[in-house]
Amino acid sequence: MHKIFVPHNITDPGVEQLQEAFGVENVRVYREEGAISRELLLEGVVGVSALLPIQTERVDGELLDAAGPQLKVVANHGVGYDNIDVEAATARNVVVTNTPGVVSGATADLTWSLILSAARRTCEADRYVREGKWNGISVRLLNGTDVHGKTLGIFGLGSIGQAVARRSKGFDMPLIYHSRNRLDAALERDLGARYVDKATLLAESDILSLHCPLTPETTRAFGEAEFCAMKSSAVFINTTRGPVVDEAALAHALLNGEIACAGLDVFEAEPKIHPDLLRCENAVFMPHLGSASHETRGKMGQMAAVNIIACLNGQVQPNCLNKEVLGAVLGG
Ligand code: 8YV
Repeated sequence: MHKIFVPHNITDPGVEQLQEAFGVENVRVYREEGAISRELLLEGVVGVSALLPIQTERVDGELLDAAGPQLKVVANHGVGYDNIDVEAATARNVVVTNTPGVVSGATADLTWSLILSAARRTCEADRYVREGKWNGISVRLLNGTDVHGKTLGIFGLGSIGQAVARRSKGFDMPLIYHSRNRLDAALERDLGARYVDKATLLAESDILSLHCPLTPETTRAFGEAEFCAMKSSAVFINTTRGPVVDEAALAHALLNGEIACAGLDVFEAEPKIHPDLLRCENAVFMPHLGSASHETRGKMGQMAAVNIIACLNGQVQPNCLNKEVLGAVLGG
């Protein structure tokens, strides 16, 4: 009978689906809060047919070898899969899947909460009131910057970026974007999106939001030069991956007025945050909550479970990232 290892205390829907398919005794879930240690991860994966990690679990050659040749599938709980060495998995005929689409709505919602809380300084204001500093209306108190009518720039107009773009319609915002792949004309028209090069995106965006995957090309794609090229009134938002941004350069830009403010849900070395960034009153921080809604986290677990069940039943998985191994795995 197949053994399944879930090295993170994910929400129940996905676990229940796996238990139903493979039996409660064959599905092991790490129930402690927080990330599992590398040692326990290497131990727990031995002899399993499927692994369901989240972004904090690094799946590389060492881990795949520790699992053994019976490992068939690694089903990531997340759309981003920069935690997985897909080439190493492919070399061992192990299928890799992710959970695209289901995270887009929740992540776009959180992006907008960061845009509005950074631009209108709502977190600062909340602290101000809680600290008992408010002693009546003052016309100059905590003035932020308007969001409506401003130019929204999106770096990476994939599923999440498009969900953010659709939500901007209610704010009458001109939309510009830069992406690895340009959208087709019909979708550009539907979104009202104008394709620009990166320099124009930096120069014209009043609010710049990142929605690209973390790849060698996007690693530190935003650093000192990029922040210097932006408007001093600009709002900078990152809900994709921390290493896309040079955090020290961002802190410098925020502390020296090169840009106005930032909203961040991801960091270079999560959960650590650069000490200079923590000094920035004009930054809003979230602990990687992009997809953190009951509904979405439930759907992510279920999607990963469906990927595992399909693979171990010899069916093609809906979200396979390395289709080249399917022949070997499904006995084609
Ligand atoms: C997840 C994410 O919360 O989907 C992603 O890529 O970063 C988040 O939605 C994270 O992967 C943990 O599952």
